Amino acid sequence: MSARTSRKPEELVIVLDFGAQYNQLIARRIRDCHVYCEILPHGTPISDLLSRRPKGIVLSGGPSSVYEEGSPLVSPALFEAGIPILGICYGMQLMAKLLGGDVQAAKLREYGKTELTVLDDGDIFQGLNPRLIAWMSHGDRVDKVPPGFVATAKTASALAAMSDREHMLFGVQFHPEVVHTPWGIEIFRNFLYQQCGCRGTWTSESVITQAISAVQEQVGDGKVACALSGGVDSAVTAAIVHRAVGDQLTCIFMDHGFLRKGESDQVVRTFRENFHVNLVHVQAQQRFLARLKGVTDPEEKRITIGEEYAAVLEEESRKLGDVQFLAQGTLYPDVIESGTRQAARIKTHHNVAGLPETLKLHLVEPVRYLFKDEVRAVGEELGLPGEIVWRHPFPGPGLAIRILGEITPDRLEALQEADAIIIEEIMAAGLYRRLFQCFGVLAPMKSVGVMGDQRTYGNAIILRAVTSDDAMTADWAHLPYEVLSRISTRIINEVPGVNRVVYDISSKPPATIEWE
Ligand code: XMP
Repeated sequence: MSARTSRKPEELVIVLDFGAQYNQLIARRIRDCHVYCEILPHGTPISDLLSRRPKGIVLSGGPSSVYEEGSPLVSPALFEAGIPILGICYGMQLMAKLLGGDVQAAKLREYGKTELTVLDDGDIFQGLNPRLIAWMSHGDRVDKVPPGFVATAKTASALAAMSDREHMLFGVQFHPEVVHTPWGIEIFRNFLYQQCGCRGTWTSESVITQAISAVQEQVGDGKVACALSGGVDSAVTAAIVHRAVGDQLTCIFMDHGFLRKGESDQVVRTFRENFHVNLVHVQAQQRFLARLKGVTDPEEKRITIGEEYAAVLEEESRKLGDVQFLAQGTLYPDVIESGTRQAARIKTHHNVAGLPETLKLHLVEPVRYLFKDEVRAVGEELGLPGEIVWRHPFPGPGLAIRILGEITPDRLEALQEADAIIIEEIMAAGLYRRLFQCFGVLAPMKSVGVMGDQRTYGNAIILRAVTSDDAMTADWAHLPYEVLSRISTRIINEVPGVNRVVYDISSKPPATIEWE
């Protein structure tokens, strides 16, 4: 696998990564200002940085202290390249140290919301109030600004911002990227529009135009396969590639049998009828059910489904003949994090929109540089239906990992029915977009109940509804009692064999969003 879809943004701003936890937020804020932005490692050679002709550079925060041995650096030549630079927290301290200022451990550390006084609103503070509340998180401070700089803001105990307007160098000690600095976006806007001379050309329309021409350039008259999952990332990917190369694209949509009720038909209808895309609809339900017979262990389930999925896709793509390219909905957070995160394996996650490596296909990744909400905006611009654009994340193995214990056709049907009721009621209550995910889980046990004077011994459905930004952490949603009550009544009345509904009130961590 080699060539990847390239893109040529008109305006690029680079964020140099010094390891802060908020770096993705810096990129988000810059993109909110309609300026394309990429995060690169702080050690990227200066020649590589300059050859990309950035309109501006942001030095991020980071956990180190600039006076510690081995702390991450940049070449001082960067400050002489004539490119506007904004240093944030560690980035500002580094700028100060390398340019002849003085950085010390602060006697008084500043964490959290801090009052700030603007001393000079001639550049990045333009248009802002003289007194502001900013989010701070630092133990070091700039004691003396470098020659040529002036202090532009302060707090009660430290310098909060500095500028060298002549050389277009700016530093802020606080974090303008976090929500707790609500006016922080203005700092970026002033920096980008006034100092860097950006015009804000990064819009959904421009993303689509650039992505289409990049795909055309990469693919030429080659054949592309795209595995659709029903989710927004693969749908947007397919729609872009289809616009770029039309019938050279074939989408493969596999129904492994663990999709939500009606989902399979909806995806097929959208792509075949509305978009007139070549679509192979693989009906592999029986194959998957057969392989999962008797499997109850969560990891074994996930691994079995992953293997079977890869096998079916390999068969199907071979049938298509001389396919050279694979379109895949990889997103920017995956790009940033791939290879760098050393996390313990909690679950085997399958990106089931992928095809096996053995096929030796070149990747086409038109949304590789987008965040999830940007993909949604692009999806809307492309005219994809709201049910796909705003669909909650859905795990690759689908309902299989929400049926605790063995998967049988009856249990699957019960969960599909219960799940459909949950989604219907959440939507009717106008809560769908406020939740990150909501779904049902079929418990692996039965309990006693009474229905119409008769004893029942039936199944329990666990209702799970969470709020989250990125699935890394999540909280259980405080759903209104009336909504909980309607969901419970309907499931018990309408889903045969279910006599109990319980609500999962665990956050992640220590629980996870899914139950398996
Ligand atoms: P957990 O359960 O780990 O889930 O808190 C975090 C997010 O990932 C989704 N998820 C998956 N997505 N393939 C996927 O594409 C998978 O195998 C998978 N397992 C969990 C889950 O729905 C949640 O959004």
